[in-house]
Amino acid sequence: MKYSRIAGTGSYLPQRVLTNAELETMVDTSDQWIRERTGIERRHIAGESETTADLAEAAARNAMDMAGVTAKDIDLVIVATTTADCVFPSVACLLQNRLGITNSSPAFDVQAVCAGFVYALGIANSMLRAGSGQTVLVIGAETFSRILNWEDRNTCVLFGDGAGAVVLKASDEPGIHSTHLHADGRYSELLHVPEGVSRGYAEMQQQAYVQMRGSEVFKMAVSKLSEVVDETLQANNIEKSDLDWLVPHQANLRIIKATARKLSMSMDNVVVTVQDHGNTSAASIPMALDVAVRDGRIKPGEKLLLEGFGGGFTWGSALVTF
Ligand code: UT7
Repeated sequence: MKYSRIAGTGSYLPQRVLTNAELETMVDTSDQWIRERTGIERRHIAGESETTADLAEAAARNAMDMAGVTAKDIDLVIVATTTADCVFPSVACLLQNRLGITNSSPAFDVQAVCAGFVYALGIANSMLRAGSGQTVLVIGAETFSRILNWEDRNTCVLFGDGAGAVVLKASDEPGIHSTHLHADGRYSELLHVPEGVSRGYAEMQQQAYVQMRGSEVFKMAVSKLSEVVDETLQANNIEKSDLDWLVPHQANLRIIKATARKLSMSMDNVVVTVQDHGNTSAASIPMALDVAVRDGRIKPGEKLLLEGFGGGFTWGSALVTF
C-alpha cells in the first residue's frame, strides 16, 4: 500500500499589516471587541497589484525548498481558493506556469472556502495513493480582502490574506492516515458571497462581498468540528491522548478553544495564529502548520489533527503523522 507524507511546508504573508486600531478608524468597532470576540489583533492585506497567485507562488517555493524538490518533480498541483485571480484559468494553472512545471501533469483549483485546504489535502492524498502522482503541491491561498465590504463591521474585521503550502510525497509509511470531508448545502445563506459570474457581472461588481450571520455560523462550527474530531479518532482507532498537535482553521479563538476542550488538549498543544493572521480561509491551516514546523514545535513523527469549517457549509479534518 502506498501512502502520502508531508515532505515540506511553506507560507507567505503580504507585507501590509492592518491592525485593530486602524479598523477603529474605519468602522464602528474597537480593539477590545475584536480581541475578546475573535482573538484577532492584526491581519495582513495584499498590495493593490498583489494577487492570490502571487501569494501562492511564494508559499509554494518555500515548501518546495524545504522538501528539496524542483519543478520537474511536481506531478500534481491543487490550489484551494475562493479568491482566484481570474474566472479562468485556475490559480493552479497560473502557478504551474510560473513555477516552470512543464510535464503536462494535472493542475486545478478546489473551492470549499475555509475547509478548502483539508478538501485539497484529501483529494491529493487519494490521487497519490491511487497512483496519479509521486510529488504533489497542495496550496491554500486567499485574497479575502477583495471580497470584503469595508463598511460592514460584522465581517471586515475578521479576515486577512495569505497563503500556505505543503509538498506531499509518496511514501511506504503513512503520513496522512485519513481525511474526512463533509458539506451541507442547506445552510449556504448563513455565510456566502451571494453574487458571482453566472448571476451577472454588474451585480458582481456591487455586491460580491462576504455576508455572514456570525453567531449561527459559530454554533454550527463548534458542533460540526466536534463531530468530525470524534469521527477522525474513531476511524483511526486512536485516543485523544495519542494526538500531539491540533492545527485548526483560524476563524475564532473561541471556536479553537472549544475544539481543544473537546479533545481534552492543553492550549500549549494547539497551533494558534489567529491573533496575527486573522481568518485567511483556505490558507489558514497550512500557514499555521508552517509556522509551527519552522519554529520547531512540530517535529517529525508527531501526530497532528487538522480541521476546518467554512461556507457551504463545508467542513473536514485530516489525521497526519508529520
Ligand atoms: O471561517 C469560516 C467560518 N466562520 C466562522 O467560524 C466565524 C464564526 N462566527 C464568529 O466568529 C462570531 O460569531 C463573530 C466574531 C463573527 C461575532 O461574535 P459573536 O459573539 O457571535 O457576536 P454577535 O454576532 O452575536 O454580535 C454581538 C454584538 C452585536 O451587537 P448587538 O446586536 O448585540 O447590539 C453586533 O452588532 O456585536 C456587534 N458587532 C460588533 N461590535 C463591534 C458585530 N461586529 C462588531 C464589531 N465591533 N466588529
